[in-house]
Amino acid sequence: MEEIENIKETISKCERCDLSNNRKNTVPGEGSKDADIMIIGEAPGKKEDETGRPFVGRAGKVLTEALEKAGIKRSDVFITNVVKCRPPKNRDPKKDEIKKCRGYLEDQLETIEPNIIVPLGNSALKTLLGQQRISEKRGEIFEKDGRKYMPTYHPAATIYNRKLRPELIKDLEKIGEESR
Ligand code: URA
Repeated sequence: MEEIENIKETISKCERCDLSNNRKNTVPGEGSKDADIMIIGEAPGKKEDETGRPFVGRAGKVLTEALEKAGIKRSDVFITNVVKCRPPKNRDPKKDEIKKCRGYLEDQLETIEPNIIVPLGNSALKTLLGQQRISEKRGEIFEKDGRKYMPTYHPAATIYNRKLRPELIKDLEKIGEESR
């Protein structure tokens, strides 16, 4: 089993797809290597690309606050994305980019072995569970290949639709309970 630091090092040199051409930094993910909860977003944005850290922009602020309100410390979880480099102009990651990056996520999952995996939004839901609609699947527990999942809204979605924010917090509370 690989150490989380070795995975990070490998990602930093990755040239498996064209996203490597335009990045400032890879964004491998961060958090506790003993995390019970692993949170998985879609792709780094501008701030993340500049800093090399996941969820540090506007959506990140929402995520950090929602975690706090749900009684979960950001430093206790592991946060990453389906792809580790920013797509140009924040377009959706392409199928082949997701496919080429998938191995890194798998390595992270095998190393951290979280009790519960949290796909944020449609893209992560589709990549991890092959399911389509976050609005229908959020808050549900899924078991797949011996792993437990509970998808919830992407925090960015709760910026555009404020009504979703309490739902996100409620889901995170349940995730906190399920993770123990
Ligand atoms: N949105 C994501 O999906 N991931 C990030 O790291 C930041 C914003």
